[in-house]
Amino acid sequence: MSLDVAAIREQFPILKREIDGNPLVYLDNAATTQKPQCVIDALVEYYSLYNSNVHRGAHRLADEATRKFEHARDIVKDFINAPKREEVIWTSGTTEGINMIANGLSKLLKSTDEVIVTGMEHHANIVTWQQACKVAGATLRTVPVTDKGELDLDAYVSLLNENTKLVAFPHVSNSLGTVNPIAWLTEQAKKFDAWVLVDGAQGIAHGDVDVQAIGCDFYAFSGHKIYAPMGVGVLWGKEALLAEWPVWQTGGEMIATVTLQDATWNVLPYRLEAGTPNVGDAIALGEAIRWFDAFDHAEVAAHEQALMSRATELAKEFDGLRMIGEAEQKVGAFSFVLDQGHPADIGFLLDRQGIAIRTGDHCAQPLMARFGVPGTARMSFSIYNTIEEVELFFKALKKVHMMLA
Ligand SMILES: Cc1ncc(COP(=O)(O)O)c(C=O)c1O
Repeated sequence: MSLDVAAIREQFPILKREIDGNPLVYLDNAATTQKPQCVIDALVEYYSLYNSNVHRGAHRLADEATRKFEHARDIVKDFINAPKREEVIWTSGTTEGINMIANGLSKLLKSTDEVIVTGMEHHANIVTWQQACKVAGATLRTVPVTDKGELDLDAYVSLLNENTKLVAFPHVSNSLGTVNPIAWLTEQAKKFDAWVLVDGAQGIAHGDVDVQAIGCDFYAFSGHKIYAPMGVGVLWGKEALLAEWPVWQTGGEMIATVTLQDATWNVLPYRLEAGTPNVGDAIALGEAIRWFDAFDHAEVAAHEQALMSRATELAKEFDGLRMIGEAEQKVGAFSFVLDQGHPADIGFLLDRQGIAIRTGDHCAQPLMARFGVPGTARMSFSIYNTIEEVELFFKALKKVHMMLA
């Protein structure tokens, strides 16, 4: 069996768009995925039929909104195989989830402590830890990236020591597509009792995420990378840690009792969810995961692998193209530069042909410096992309290459 990609595409209204008379070829999925009609409907239904604040209301709408909002939490829990629903914290996205943990960590670190990140981070998973270390006077160490775009695993092992307090790494690199051995990386960190945070922004839509099998302490992701709206995401963490983690935002919902002098905190998950949550988007995220999870995961993986293999094949035949990132395990993102032309010009000229990609540093300036490029052109795949689109892309790129020569 293979995926019925044509039927999947029918569910995405935006894929019917034309750009300057060309059918839209959307290859910018690492930046954000498009939304199927059922997700759009879930959002519209919330605002049309039962828009209400949650948890506090004594009326029908509030009751409906609360039930659907909390049901979405259960959907997330099952999808990532979290042991408990209380461990699923709604955030605005990956960035907020990482900030929540980094902010708390800055209050727990001592000056002798060390934090390890990798050389392939999105800025969200490096600047946050830089700041936490600066506040505490702790040391930030980084795992180097090899020429193929993989983590130098020997160097990683040699960086770990008794002072390592936390290790953070991406499940999948947003720039290179490298799939990291996250369970193994976690296992090594656990030999030193370090906490482990996985940046799951690019991992969540490209494979099975089982937080118990990974063994990590925290896993953060954004809804918009997995067919849900922007502005909602999830931070999963182990209950014992989250229950004690320093609160970072205070206000309504996260308190148990308040006097004029002091306050006590609510139980999980609410102690880490200050203020009115993003109810409609959380419900739509639940719907997106329900939609995505109905596909056979092995079929989705095989389809995405076929797209990546065809792209790699055509790239290798393309004179003047340098692939950036040739990891053995790669998914989603495919980066390259041409011998002629800046990535921004490539993106502009492809857009004239209806092809949407991303160009620039992909919020990964240290990684671009590592490869000696100011940025790359990046196409990134999703469940609805086709082999024909990949082939069309390379045909269009040939034209662009000639124009830039
Ligand atoms: C690997 C990675 N981490 C973190 C982020 C930040 O995600 P968001 O902007 O949705 O918070 C992204 C976004 O592209 C990403 O690709």
